[in-house]
Amino acid sequence: MTLLFKVDPARGRAWKALFAEQAPDIEVRLWPEVGDASDIRYLATWQPPEGIAERFPNLQVLFATSAGVDQFDTATLPAWVQVVRMLDPGIVQGIVEYATMAVLALHRDLPLYLQQQRQGLWQEHPHVPARRRRVGVMGLGNLGQAVLRQLHGFAFELRGWSRTEKQIEGVQCFAGEAELQAFLAGCETLICLLPLTPDTAGILNARLLAALPRGACLINLGRGGHLVDDDLLAALDCGQVRRAIVDVLATEPPGPDHPLMVHPNVWVTPHIGAVTHPESAFGVLLENLRRHQRGEVMEGVVLRERGY
Ligand code: NAP
Ligand code: GLV
Repeated sequence: MTLLFKVDPARGRAWKALFAEQAPDIEVRLWPEVGDASDIRYLATWQPPEGIAERFPNLQVLFATSAGVDQFDTATLPAWVQVVRMLDPGIVQGIVEYATMAVLALHRDLPLYLQQQRQGLWQEHPHVPARRRRVGVMGLGNLGQAVLRQLHGFAFELRGWSRTEKQIEGVQCFAGEAELQAFLAGCETLICLLPLTPDTAGILNARLLAALPRGACLINLGRGGHLVDDDLLAALDCGQVRRAIVDVLATEPPGPDHPLMVHPNVWVTPHIGAVTHPESAFGVLLENLRRHQRGEVMEGVVLRERGY
């Protein structure tokens, strides 16, 4: 049973060492040292090589080293290859930390106070308690629900939106296209934690931004493909959106002159919301490999027709 990693060299060495120590029966190879490609049953990667089906005729499982799988063109994969997303607890922690940091920074007007400091201004603005701030999360999956659990502790008024109906304690839940407008109308801060699929591409557009309360803030932690950059810029410039924090862009890395990189009311980070660390992800990957070997259902299998 051979597992090929196509990841950066340092992470590859870390993965290989973990397997050698804790699961020596699984042979690990590191791209580009593929050896006999017909040995490869499992491939773990963020960016797969071209022509997977022809290159690895005996591939059974494609493991994403990421939570998102939009980078995979599943249409080109044989039907028998299962695609599995990464349910690393380290990713959950990273996203919870980032979302909490961003919500609190916006809630406590940190960008404004930092601007004031640069201008030498000592000026206080009215304080709004968290219980009077309405925060909404698009995407109530593994990450969206973890973020809501954390924000609940600050007493924010919380709401969430997903494809299918949910019940989450302390969160007003909305589902589907029919309830999107009602959801948005109560989001003073909106966090996107959706997967990128044909249904969600470009969802953060002029129509959606116009449905938010005036002066709302946007945090995009999903994918750059969710956001229509020009629509956000127009909404920022007319005051419909007050501030945005974006961790992901449609083209990464962006040029230094990218309009979101230079906008005074936008904070951009270089897709660091969460990073997969082999140490925290190893247990999940190994458990899935063992399940597959035993013929059991793995955790995080992507439903291809759904796209996530
Ligand atoms: P997940 O567990 O699969 O959850 C996805 C959620 O989105 C589900 O609640 C799903 O609804 C909802 N959804 C999907 N399509 C929808 C639609 N058309 N309309 C409404 N809701 C829809 O995914 P996750 O693990 O939470 O990850 C979410 C995304 O976060 C990833 O796909 C990735 O793009 C992003 N991410 C970013 C970073 C970063 O560093 N910035 C790190 C990790 C992940 P149902 O519950 O009804 O199925
Ligand atoms: C990172 O963006 C991930 O999807 O894990």
